[in-house]
Amino acid sequence: MKTIFSGIQPSGALTLGNYLGALKHFVDLQDDHDCYFCIVDEHAITVPQDRLKLRDNIRSLAALYLAVGIDPEKSTLFIQSEVSAHTQLGWMMQTISYIGELERMTQFKDKSAGKEAVSSALLTYPPLMVSDILLYNTDIVPVGEDQKQHLELTKTLAQRFNNKYNDIFTIPEISVPKVGARIMSLQEPTKKMSKSDENQKASIFMLDDPKQIEKKIKSAVTDSEGIVRFDKENKPGISNLLTIHASCTGESIETLEKKYEHAGYGVFKQDTADVLIGLLEPIQKRYHELIVSSELDEILDLGADKAAYKANKTLAKAKKAMGLGRVKKKK
Ligand code: TYM
Repeated sequence: MKTIFSGIQPSGALTLGNYLGALKHFVDLQDDHDCYFCIVDEHAITVPQDRLKLRDNIRSLAALYLAVGIDPEKSTLFIQSEVSAHTQLGWMMQTISYIGELERMTQFKDKSAGKEAVSSALLTYPPLMVSDILLYNTDIVPVGEDQKQHLELTKTLAQRFNNKYNDIFTIPEISVPKVGARIMSLQEPTKKMSKSDENQKASIFMLDDPKQIEKKIKSAVTDSEGIVRFDKENKPGISNLLTIHASCTGESIETLEKKYEHAGYGVFKQDTADVLIGLLEPIQKRYHELIVSSELDEILDLGADKAAYKANKTLAKAKKAMGLGRVKKKK
């Protein structure tokens, strides 16, 4: 059975991009894979966070994982900071990462651009992410397109460690969905939809109510052609809505183009909003039950124990390979 690992930062309310690019696929994978899903709170603190908001976001993300269908009987769901092997291996992986390759990461460039004080942890974010993945002997990492560069670096560092010390890490493969790997902003459809976008109208959040969803879809930026047609270059707004619609219903983009051939943007947008509302309503209902339950804590406690068991085994191997610690003398 192949092992899957993926993580999401509790750095704000989850967007439809996080769902269609990542979460949705986690659910499909759990039946025939050994899955580890993580709330990567140590990654979130690489940029300033309000401590109370962070706490809420961690719990909220855990509830959302479950509400979309992550089944704790099948998958291991846990919080990164509750499994200390992540930061331990993260430190070790920093010793084989070069500053130059970390400075080339687009996420680092984007998040540090124009900032006066940038934490060193923002630069060393990728070695921690590499550790998240390598600790579980991960075969496949399901993520959205924006994580491709980090995954390339993961392969490079795993290979570098194996060559330099000992062949202990599995080299993981990335899995990016065919449709929905990059959901774009509703207001600037050439930019990705992001948790941290200041313009609230740019993103659909997983917990938006039906009225908000309808309003945001209806005010999504389109073009003046009036034809529902997929053309990323010339019609990024409509193409994004087509992608969203197709990812939610499972219909192909071509089917949707035919279906709305003679309809205007108004009808297409209304139907897209309805599809989203229908998708999110049951998830939100389950979320509100879970967020106040002690069941959530039990699942996370068990998840941390299960994850630590596996992670500590890999960590011990990596420490031995690097010559850390000691070998005890026989009595
Ligand atoms: P994060 O928290 O930014 O995003 C979580 C997941 O959502 C995907 N995603 C999107 N997919 C499609 N369209 C979008 N607009 C969109 N926005 C986000 C991301 O690609 C991701 O899969 N570095 C990671 C977290 C991480 C991780 C890991 C992931 C830490 N350790 C180990 C995988 C394995 C991040 O910042 O994701």
